[in-house]
Amino acid sequence: MRRIVIAGNWKMHKTQADSLAFLNGFLPQLETTPEQREVILCSPFTALTSLSKTLHGSRAMVGAQNIHWETSGAYTGEVSGEMLTELGVRYVIVGHSERRQYFGETDKTVNLRLKAAQASGLTPILCVGETKEQRDAGETETHVVGQIEKALAGVDQSKLIIAYEPIWAIGTGDTCASDEANRVCWLIRSQLANKDVPIQYGGSVKPGNVDEIMAQPDIDGALVGGASLEAETFARIVNYV
Ligand code: G3P
Repeated sequence: MRRIVIAGNWKMHKTQADSLAFLNGFLPQLETTPEQREVILCSPFTALTSLSKTLHGSRAMVGAQNIHWETSGAYTGEVSGEMLTELGVRYVIVGHSERRQYFGETDKTVNLRLKAAQASGLTPILCVGETKEQRDAGETETHVVGQIEKALAGVDQSKLIIAYEPIWAIGTGDTCASDEANRVCWLIRSQLANKDVPIQYGGSVKPGNVDEIMAQPDIDGALVGGASLEAETFARIVNYV
């Protein structure tokens, strides 16, 4: 059975109070969401506890946005897998382009974080995607395939979600054409031993384009940034037609 996974990546937005206010408007709108669709909210670390408590027993699940590969140690500012699972977190975004761009994330550290997530019982959402320069140079395929190969070395593909997020589409409103996004998601799937890994598209997903994106055969969901911050808007995306 094809899995459909719609996740919101709140990035550095929403206090605990904001998160709970969001849920008041969001959760009632999941009552009509088809059972097959999995809904994940990835909040800042500081809201995970209250989010997890409020979402317990609901249709939505909790995700984090990063994880360190060590179980403990002198890593100021970092968080371990056990610290996340203790809070009821079940998913964690790994290798987002913003962490690669601003915080020195590499293919090697992405691989370490993926394995640490799985060792903790978390399902990682692996982010891959090319820059505008790489796309314009015709390097999209080689870059994305290279990211997948390096990230997934020794990783259990039965507990994995992948998000194709062309960097030039993130936060720009310049959404990748749905057929092109599907082509790259197909390419990613062709590299996997497990063809059932859900592959999301991310990059300016909005209510106005989600129906077309989700109609594509090799796109199994969406990883949504800006449009996941407002309850009505994200509910419309989750309840795509
Ligand atoms: O992780 C999802 C995010 O990078 C996409 O952001 O604002 O383009 O939906 P946005």
